Amino acid sequence: MIIPNQRHLFSIPESHAYLNTAYMSPLMQSVVAAMESGIAEKVAPWDYKAHQFFDDVSTARGLAADVFGTTPENIAIVPSASYGLQTAANALPLKTGQNILVLQDQFPSHIYPWQVRAADVGAHVRILPTPEDDDWTRVVLETMDADTAIVAVPQTHWSTGATIDLIKIRAALEKVGGALVLDLTQSLGAQPFDASDVRPDFAVAATYKWLLGPYSCGFLYVDPKWHSARPLEENWINRAGSEDFGGLTNYREDYQPGAVRFDMGEKSNPAQMRGASAALRQILEWRVENIAETLQEKTDIIATELAPLGLQAAKIRAPHYLGLRRTGGLPKGLLERLAERNIYVSARGPALRVTPHLYTSETDMARLIEALKGELS
Ligand SMILES: Cc1ncc(COP(=O)(O)O)c(C=O)c1O
Repeated sequence: MIIPNQRHLFSIPESHAYLNTAYMSPLMQSVVAAMESGIAEKVAPWDYKAHQFFDDVSTARGLAADVFGTTPENIAIVPSASYGLQTAANALPLKTGQNILVLQDQFPSHIYPWQVRAADVGAHVRILPTPEDDDWTRVVLETMDADTAIVAVPQTHWSTGATIDLIKIRAALEKVGGALVLDLTQSLGAQPFDASDVRPDFAVAATYKWLLGPYSCGFLYVDPKWHSARPLEENWINRAGSEDFGGLTNYREDYQPGAVRFDMGEKSNPAQMRGASAALRQILEWRVENIAETLQEKTDIIATELAPLGLQAAKIRAPHYLGLRRTGGLPKGLLERLAERNIYVSARGPALRVTPHLYTSETDMARLIEALKGELS
């Protein structure tokens, strides 16, 4: 189902054509109100009760679980994608001589932890080269071998918008006994994903892009087989019995159940948790399939209009995401000149990223297309 334009829920000036969700989504008014209600709790801490350290977190965890396609016990609260990916890198077994597969030009937070971990044990990070036909699935499947311990990939490439068939990769990994670690920051909330089908070992998404939530917030899916792994921090609130503030110095070895042990310290920030929850609620109400279908329609129009200018979308691409490449590259100062006209897109690696959302109007799209025609034809 195509969702009608939702710009009225945001606070975007009419003069602004914002097609840069991959950089950072604007906050909805409902999210701002939820965050303000959270800030108000800290204005009056005398009314803030111990159970509130747990309530907002538990609501957010439940809503995030619905978006991931799992149950709340598999979700941890994290401050960033990096935190979740480092948690995975520390937890997964890796031996000398084994390999970790990553994609060329992948986001650095999904490269560095693997390089450091591989160096620690004498394993190798194999950076797979970008295929001409954008078929990353084939490249991963062809490269995977009996020594592949981990495939560490996104669902959608943050530069080109190329997308990967995670179910096929999971099935192949099953045969070699490897683990799957996903960075869903550029896809969850806008591209269908179901943890119960894909069965990743770990999957993380920061909330400030396609989950339409606040900065410094994210969610980490942890498969039950890793629930007893070591968390990044040993914080007080993740240990069993932490609800009893008076008994915190009865130090305990056991943790809260499920993935809670991987939660970050100071997770109980009511502004963050309520803001994230308000955004997740709205996404669940729209439904991710409908968001994807609506954004596919928008990105198809833009891609078709821009193709004659030599701007090429990935051949196998996500519905919500255009990373347009051009022989000879992009003219110098292009983004700045567009921004002077209040048209906002970004460039990463070789690609011009055009990433609309439900707030993007037909006028916004027409302005971008016209401006690029002026620049490139
Ligand atoms: C693919 C991808 N992952 C993660 C992030 C953000 O990482 P972090 O939450 O660690 O700052 C970005 C930000 O641009 C991204 O594009």
